[in-house]
Amino acid sequence: MRAVAVTAFGEQPQLMELPEPEPGPGEVLVRLSAAGVNPIDWKIADGLLKDTVRHSFPLVLGSDGAGEVVAVGTGVRRLSVGDAVFGQFQRPERGGGSYAEFAVADERAVAGAARAVTYATSAAVPTAGTTAYNLVEETRIGEGKRVLIVGGTGGVGVFATQLAAGRGAEVIATARQGLADLLTSLGAAETVDHTVGPVADQVLAAHPDGVDVLLDLVGGPVAFGEMTRTVRDGGTAVSTVGAADADVLTEHNLRGFNFHNRPSPQLLEILAGQLDAGRLTVIISDEVPLEDAPEALEGSRTGHTQGKTVISF
Ligand SMILES: NC(=O)c1ccc[n+]([C@@H]2O[C@H](COP(=O)([O-])OP(=O)(O)OC[C@H]3O[C@@H](n4cnc5c(N)ncnc54)[C@H](OP(=O)(O)O)[C@@H]3O)[C@@H](O)[C@H]2O)c1
Repeated sequence: MRAVAVTAFGEQPQLMELPEPEPGPGEVLVRLSAAGVNPIDWKIADGLLKDTVRHSFPLVLGSDGAGEVVAVGTGVRRLSVGDAVFGQFQRPERGGGSYAEFAVADERAVAGAARAVTYATSAAVPTAGTTAYNLVEETRIGEGKRVLIVGGTGGVGVFATQLAAGRGAEVIATARQGLADLLTSLGAAETVDHTVGPVADQVLAAHPDGVDVLLDLVGGPVAFGEMTRTVRDGGTAVSTVGAADADVLTEHNLRGFNFHNRPSPQLLEILAGQLDAGRLTVIISDEVPLEDAPEALEGSRTGHTQGKTVISF
C-alpha cells in the first residue's frame, strides 16, 4: 500500500510502498478514504513522544482518518466489515498511522462515521473535534460565560467556537482580517485581530471586567501569562500547548490547567451525531492527494493554516 512515513525521528516524511497491516485482537483494518492533518502529526515525527512510547520505523504518520472497515480481529464486537468509521489511527509502537491507504485501529479509537457528510469531512474531526468538546466540557462553558479563544481560526478553534457558542456562551475569538466573518457565522459574538496589536489589550479595552474562561490554543508560557490578564478574578485559563504554570495561575487567583485530550468512541459518536444533524460545521481549507502530505505537514508546522487540511486517497 502507499503510505507517507518517516524512517527516523526528524527525517523528511516520504511517500513509500509498505505492507498492508493486519488487525490483531480487538482491532479493525480500515481502507481509508481520507486522513486529517493535525500539528501532533509532525510533532510525533519530530520525536515528541520518544521518551514515553516505543516507536517502530518506518513510522506511518497521521492520527485522524475515515474509511470503511475491511477486516476485523478476534473479539471485535462494536464494528463489522463494511462499516463506515472515523477516528484515530496513530500507533507509534506498531509504526501505524492514517497517512496510508490502509490502517489498523483499536476498535475503541474509532466510531461509526456521520452519514450526511463525506469521508473527507469526517477525517477532519477526530482530534480537533474531541479536543474542542473536552475543552468546553472541562471548563464548564455555558450560558452567561464570556470565553476568549486564542487560535480561533485553527483546527481546534473552529470547533471550540461553535461548541462554546452552541452552549450559550459569549465567544470572543481571534481571527485575522478576512476570517472574522467566518467565525461570526459559526457563532462568535466578537473577533479580535491578533495581527494588529496585543490581543489582551484589545479584549480588555472592550471588556474591562475580563472574560470568565481563556482557551489558549497557541501561546507559549510568556504569551499565555500575558493572555491571563484578560481573565477575571476566579476565572479559568487553559493551555493546549503545555504553557500553563500552576504557580502563576494561583498567584493571579485563577483556576486552570494544561489540557490533555481524552478521546473516546462515545465522544466520536456525539460529534458524528452533530455532523448528521447539521449542528457542526467543518471548515476544510485544503484537500490534497497523499503524495502532497509532506508539504501539508510543513504547512501545519508554520502554525498558520486555517480550519483543517485533509488528505484524500
Ligand atoms: N493538549 C492536547 O491534548 C492537544 C489536543 C489538540 C491540539 N493540541 C495543540 O493545540 C494547538 C492548536 O491545535 P490546532 O489543530 O488548532 O492548530 P492549527 O490548526 O495549526 O492552528 C493554526 C491557527 O492558529 C492561529 N494562530 C497562530 N498564531 C496565533 C496567534 N499568535 N494568535 C492567534 N491565533 C494564532 C492561526 O491563525 P493565523 O494564521 O491567522 O495566525 C491558525 O488559524 C497545537 O499546538 C496542537 O498540537 C493539543
